[in-house]
Amino acid sequence: MAITGKDINKAKELLTAGELVAIPTETVYGLSGNALNLTSVTRIFEVKNRPRFDPLIVHVSDIGAAAMYVENVPELAHKLVARFWPGPLTLLLKRKPIIPDLVTSGLPTVGIRCPNHPLTQSLLRQLPFPIAAPSANPFGYVSPTTPEHVAEQLGDKIPYILDGGACQVGIESTIIGFDSGLPIVYRLGGLTIEAIESVVGKVYANGHSTSNPVAPGQLQQHYSPSTKIVVGNIEELLLKHANEEVAVLSFQKSYPVKHQEILSLTGDLDEAAQHLFAAMRTLDRLSVSLILAEQVPNHGLGRAINDRLQRAAAR
Ligand code: TXA
Ligand code: MG
Repeated sequence: MAITGKDINKAKELLTAGELVAIPTETVYGLSGNALNLTSVTRIFEVKNRPRFDPLIVHVSDIGAAAMYVENVPELAHKLVARFWPGPLTLLLKRKPIIPDLVTSGLPTVGIRCPNHPLTQSLLRQLPFPIAAPSANPFGYVSPTTPEHVAEQLGDKIPYILDGGACQVGIESTIIGFDSGLPIVYRLGGLTIEAIESVVGKVYANGHSTSNPVAPGQLQQHYSPSTKIVVGNIEELLLKHANEEVAVLSFQKSYPVKHQEILSLTGDLDEAAQHLFAAMRTLDRLSVSLILAEQVPNHGLGRAINDRLQRAAAR
């Protein structure tokens, strides 16, 4: 079983030896390994049971480190980095040959991100290599936002979980790529589109696809608990499913049901994002037949929350 602790040196030793370590970030926990070591990267895919066509994000300590791994960086990418790193923003940039094919699933771009968490920042600064880290959950399941979530599902497969407490943002990074220098959103996430547009102007959408290996992050069904989720008007859904054992995942309101998770009593979207995945996990453990969820206001982090709810419901 994995040991959970705050020992950066131990994490450093294990990563240097090619082993995998779960790391905290401000978004979700990552399953990390040396991004330049093929054995470590292969092990990441195995532990997550992740298809090889789904590329990994490479994590670096700062802009200077990123420059060792990417080139032809568009002007708008520089602006985003200057404003939002470290933070919940991943950029898809042309990779230098030092980044292995396996990391990018053969794509010419690499997802690169500088996470904003003191433990992981400190770890990255001490490592002479970048770390590849997908979310630390089995492929297709909800991302982990606490060390306990990681231990539950991957504890028997990795030696160490670096304990950085509960994730502050709670939802994966926003992914932005570029086409002829113009920004395109590949995944809604922990940095709002409003914030990004305030720096680079209009950001273009990239439609969902279940078969497009250019952006497997857009797989419709992803981030799903095992229990079926239905998204809609809770009152109507409660009537419709009156004879079933259900649980409710609500934004702010309380409903007359036995099992429910409320994302934010004050209607705060940031707090709702922070609680979303833990709430899904809690309801998933109840062994009810159905989780009834409602959309949240569609602005700020609400857009990313609604995106994750829709994907959890797609099956
Ligand atoms: O917040 C996060 O981004 C977390 C933490 C641990 O940093 N990581 C994370 O990684 O969510 P992962 O692997 O669970 O999701 C990354 C998504 C994948 O769906 C992958 O398809 C997409 O990013 N991706 C990575 N590199 C890409 C590339 N070059 N082109 C298109 N999509 C890419
Ligand atoms: Mg993931």
